[in-house]
Amino acid sequence: MKFLLLIGFLVLILTWWVDGGVGAITDSMVELTLVQSAIPKGAVCLDGTPPGYHIQRGYGSGANNWLVDLEGGGWCNNRRSCLFRSTTALGSSKYMDKTYFSAILSNKAEENPDFYNWNRVRVRYCDGASFAGEGYDNESGLYFRGQRIWSAIMEELMGLGMSSAQQALLSGCSAGGLASVLHCDNFRALFPSQTIVKCLADAGLFLDYVDVSGLHGLRSFYDGVVTLQGVAQNLPERCTSRMNATLCFFPENIVNEIETPMFLLNAAYDTWQIQYSLAPVSAIQDGPWKFCRLNYAKCDSSQIEFLQGFRKNMTTVAESFYQSKATNGLFINSCFTHGQSVLPDTWYGNNSPSIANKGIAQSVGDWYFNRSEVKLIDCPYPCDTTCHNLVT
Ligand SMILES: *[C@@H]1O[C@H](CO)[C@@H](O)[C@H](O)[C@H]1NC(C)=O
Ligand SMILES: *[C@@H]1O[C@H](CO)[C@@H](O)[C@H](O)[C@H]1NC(C)=O
Ligand SMILES: *[C@@H]1O[C@H](CO)[C@@H](O)[C@H](O)[C@H]1NC(C)=O
Ligand SMILES: *[C@@H]1O[C@H](CO)[C@@H](O)[C@H](O)[C@H]1NC(C)=O
Repeated sequence: MKFLLLIGFLVLILTWWVDGGVGAITDSMVELTLVQSAIPKGAVCLDGTPPGYHIQRGYGSGANNWLVDLEGGGWCNNRRSCLFRSTTALGSSKYMDKTYFSAILSNKAEENPDFYNWNRVRVRYCDGASFAGEGYDNESGLYFRGQRIWSAIMEELMGLGMSSAQQALLSGCSAGGLASVLHCDNFRALFPSQTIVKCLADAGLFLDYVDVSGLHGLRSFYDGVVTLQGVAQNLPERCTSRMNATLCFFPENIVNEIETPMFLLNAAYDTWQIQYSLAPVSAIQDGPWKFCRLNYAKCDSSQIEFLQGFRKNMTTVAESFYQSKATNGLFINSCFTHGQSVLPDTWYGNNSPSIANKGIAQSVGDWYFNRSEVKLIDCPYPCDTTCHNLVT
C-alpha cells in the first residue's frame, strides 16, 4: 500500500512538472532552505535529518501577507513503511531538492489572482503523520517528530517577518490538507487577534467510510499511524476525551470544532480515497473493482451507486461543517480527482473546474476576502462537465 501511495504521489508531481513546461519551471523553481536550528530541538525528519521549506517573498500589497502551504504525500503506519519512507524525500531532507511553485503558490497574477504577491511558503513533509507525531522508535532508529517540525518551522517563519503579518492563510493538499485541519487553531494562536487568519484544506477530507468489502480499512491504517507515531497527544482534547484517538485523526470528528475560519475543498469522488480507502487492493481481490477503482468510466451501475453513497456521506459531513460556523467555506465538486489547489489547470485556468460558474481560486479568494459566502456543493455525477478527472 505504502509503495502505491508513493507512486501516486510521484505521478502527481510528474503531471504537474509536465504541465508547467520547461520555461515556466526554471522561472519558478524555489530553493530549499534547511532548518539546522531544528536539530537541537529534536525537530527532525524520520531519519534524523533537518526539516526544510521553500519561500518566495511577497511584495507590494502582499508584502505583509503570508500563505503557508503544507506538503502532502500519504502517511506511514508501521516500521517497515516508515523505514522505506526515510529513504525518500518524504522522510529525509537528504533527498529533497528545489521545488516548483505553481497554482496557489504561483507568483503570477494570471495564475493566482489573490495570493501571487504574498509571502508564499511550502513546508516540506518528512514525518509521515501529517506533522502531528511525537516519539522515537529505539528499534528502528526512526524519529516521529511531526509536531516538533511544525513548531520549529513556524518559529523560523515568525522570525522572517510572519509575526507581523496582516493576513495569513494556512493551506495544504492531501496529507497536507489533513495537517491544515489538525493545525489550524495552532496557526491562529501564533498571531495577535487583529491578524486575519484562515485555513484551507484541499483533498484533506478523508472519511471514516467502509470499503467495498465492508471493513473500515482507512481506520485500521490510521490506527497504525496514530499508535506508532504517538499522534494522540497532539490531537484536540475535546475529541480524544470523548472518542478513540484514531477517530480524532479523521476530519469529520474535529472540523466542526475548529475555531478559526476554514475552507474545505474536495472532490466528492476523491480518487485517493477510492483507490486506497474504498477499493484498496487488499479488499477487491481480482473482482470487478479492479478497473473501476482506476477509471470511473469502467464502473458498472452498482459500483457507481456505491460511490454515490460515499458522496452522500461526504456532503453530509461538509454540510454539517458549513453549518457549524458562519465563517466557513465549502467547494465539493463531483469530480474524480485528488488535490485541486496545487495544479495550475484546476486552480485557475480557462477551463478549470467550476460549480455554478465559479472556479476554485475565485471561490477560495471570495471566501478569504469576504467578497461573498461560498457554499458550493455540486450535483451528483455525471452532471459536472468542467471536471479534470484523473484516470489511469
Ligand atoms: C535502545 O536500544 C539499545 C540497543 O539497541 C538498548 O541498549 C537500550 O536499552 C534501548 N533503550 C530503550 C529505552 O529501550
Ligand atoms: C458515513 O458513513 C459511515 C459508514 O461508513 C457511517 O458510520 C456514518 O454515520 C456516515 N456519516 C454520515 C454523516 O452520513
Ligand atoms: C481505537 O480504534 C482502533 C481502530 O478501530 C482499535 O484498533 C484500537 O484498539 C482502539 N483503541 C482503543 C484504546 O480502544
Ligand atoms: C471578514 O469578516 C470578518 C467578520 O466580519 C472580519 O472579522 C474579517 O476581518 C473580515 N476579513 C477580511 C479579509 O476582510
